[in-house]
Amino acid sequence: MTTVPVTIHDLRARKERRERFVMVTAYDVAIARLLAAAEVPAILVGDSVGNNHLGYDTTLPVTMEEMVHHARAVARGAPYQLLVGDMPFGSYHRSVDQAVANAVDLVQAGMHAVKLEGGGWVVDVAARIVECGIPVMGHLGLTPQSVHAFGGFRVQGRSANDRERILDDARALQGAGAFSLVLEGVPRDLAAAVTRAVSIPTIGIGAGPDCDGQVLVAYDLLGITRGPMPKFARAYAQIGDQVIAAACAFAEDVAAGRFPDDEHSYH
Ligand code: KIV
Repeated sequence: MTTVPVTIHDLRARKERRERFVMVTAYDVAIARLLAAAEVPAILVGDSVGNNHLGYDTTLPVTMEEMVHHARAVARGAPYQLLVGDMPFGSYHRSVDQAVANAVDLVQAGMHAVKLEGGGWVVDVAARIVECGIPVMGHLGLTPQSVHAFGGFRVQGRSANDRERILDDARALQGAGAFSLVLEGVPRDLAAAVTRAVSIPTIGIGAGPDCDGQVLVAYDLLGITRGPMPKFARAYAQIGDQVIAAACAFAEDVAAGRFPDDEHSYH
């Protein structure tokens, strides 16, 4: 297992070398340790903790307090990964000072960078956070915190206007000092165009294969998510089924008096 810390510059170097990389979400120390063992270079403590871990319908109810709590846990499990903490809805909307204060809290919880959703006015907020010495990851396209404005979880950037806006926002975020960009839920040709247009690495989710990196939610990747998977996700394991089978086997063994046996008892 590597003991060389991954930095924002390493991601940039991977883009320059045309070496695709991955980022995976984590919300707790157990998954963070496993991702570290797999030498996943970047871990995102995403506000998707809301729907995947806390049972909310969307990411909108997630608070800074919750983000800091999960960020601290992940930081304990992955000392050498590049750790990115999501700024939750409402944590950078009220003022630039509020945004900087919340970004500082995430860094003090062990994050090396923060992620903000959106372009437009968010660019100025990102620029100020970068000025304060905190690396910023942008996030464009189907930004889940804008679900109500979009009228649902819909692919973004299909019209010529939206396409231009996303390209402009990507360039503006790069200009503001963002070190990378998540592109979510956009047509693959738009993601490819953004990836060509900026020199910072793009990280796609539902954005096709031409981004510099790809990100997946850990519970999708591991097959823990129940119900239909998003079109863009692939389960590389079926841990959810194994959890159910293990819990059933435990209950059956207890009912039949097979567990605990003498070997698992104290004498
Ligand atoms: O919160 C999250 O998990 C994210 C990824 C889907 C990029 O923002």
